[in-house]
Amino acid sequence: MMSDSKQEGAGEGSKLWGGRFTGATDPIMEKFNASISYDKRMWKADIEGSQAYVKALEKVGIVTAAERDSILDGLQKVKEEWQKNVFELKPGDEDIHTANERRLKELIGAAGGKLHTGRSRNDQVATDMRLWMRDAQLELRTYLTNFISVILDRAKSEIDILLPGYTHLQRAQPIRWSHWLLSYGWMLQRDLKRLDQLRERTAVLPLGSGALAGNPFGVDRDFLAKELGLGGVTGNSLDAVSDRDFVVEFLFWASLLSTHLSRWAEDLILYSTKEFNFVTLSDAYSTGSSLMPQKKNSDSLELIRGKSGRLFGNCSGFMMSLKGIPSTYNKDLQEDKEAMFDTYDTLAGILQVATGVLSTLKIYPDAMSAALSSDMLATDVAYYLVRKGVPFREAHSLAGGCVALAEKKGCVMEKLLLDDLKTVSPLFESDVADVWNYENSVDQYTAYGGTAKSSVEKQISNLETWLRNCQL
Ligand code: ARG
Repeated sequence: MMSDSKQEGAGEGSKLWGGRFTGATDPIMEKFNASISYDKRMWKADIEGSQAYVKALEKVGIVTAAERDSILDGLQKVKEEWQKNVFELKPGDEDIHTANERRLKELIGAAGGKLHTGRSRNDQVATDMRLWMRDAQLELRTYLTNFISVILDRAKSEIDILLPGYTHLQRAQPIRWSHWLLSYGWMLQRDLKRLDQLRERTAVLPLGSGALAGNPFGVDRDFLAKELGLGGVTGNSLDAVSDRDFVVEFLFWASLLSTHLSRWAEDLILYSTKEFNFVTLSDAYSTGSSLMPQKKNSDSLELIRGKSGRLFGNCSGFMMSLKGIPSTYNKDLQEDKEAMFDTYDTLAGILQVATGVLSTLKIYPDAMSAALSSDMLATDVAYYLVRKGVPFREAHSLAGGCVALAEKKGCVMEKLLLDDLKTVSPLFESDVADVWNYENSVDQYTAYGGTAKSSVEKQISNLETWLRNCQL
């Protein structure tokens, strides 16, 4: 049944690799094998790669100048069909490379068959992915810088707002709201720096590596790299056709970035509960409940948190696909694309929604300051004693004595009388009253990186200068 169905369905004769095959492909296998449903997204990169390649072929005499021009003409037409959304996929278009070449041959005839000379889909797909990734990375980079600039805008205008800082999710010490905002700014700065590093490693040319052994027609690979705007060429054809480090790096990069945003989202989800009531999301980024009329849910943030898991799944899943494959190209590598596309789409959504959430977030400074309590100044009491010459370990224990005393008297620390405090240490004097001031508290952390206004202002100006200089 398989042997005489050559003319049916799959159309053997039209397959790129059809020559030695006599039987038709099982339709389920056909579908299983095909990547066109998702890799058609790389149509533009595929055409760009071919445009450069035919020029390189002409330079070594494999095609004449006239053939080159006719192929370039045809490629231009294929490109326009994609642009106008009228490119017609046909059965047998296994992937974007197959589809574009099939269409090229339909448009210009036999000369189209010369384009693939010395090239394999193995070096072609690796090239296409790097070209596609280059644009995708740039777009994500823009979303990321937008988000950082919203952080900076808010940090500047809301610098005087204080709220509790937490460790172990327990009230720890008062901090500036801007300091909290900026903490994510620095995480994202590292993400952006990482992105720029991996952009460099992505922009390398595998084309000219053939199926695995290289190119026998002496095509000028440096010329190809230049034509395609890539920074260099790969050094080993075996490695080049199966190197997907740039995909893994991208997937990991996205996982780590989204981990940062997941934590950011979690903070805001907590802060938006009635228990905290520090912030409210704008209606544009919340939803209601179909059952409970009073509910306003922070779905945008929950999705950001949830999708970070999915991104890490893409990363770990693809790494598992990679780890057992032998040298050079194996079809397992086709798994790279869905992970890459999904990660790009998901991250683009995350970054844009996060930016929207933050730029429209309503904050409640009164609720934030009402959540400050004088027990959060216990460390300041210890520092007060340190400034009077008490070794910190001892000061820590004396301040602990004050906490215990307040608990025993059933009052907040701030309400302890000077006489009460003197029973803990004779070093307490009337100036201890200055300790019970949250502004004073945050402003003592003047070392760079701390909560003092001067230090937060310095952070803002450093991050801002960096952001300005990193615009491309
Ligand atoms: N669609 C394939 C992929 O994405 C293209 C490369 C196919 N190469 C091959 N030797 N079958 O990996």
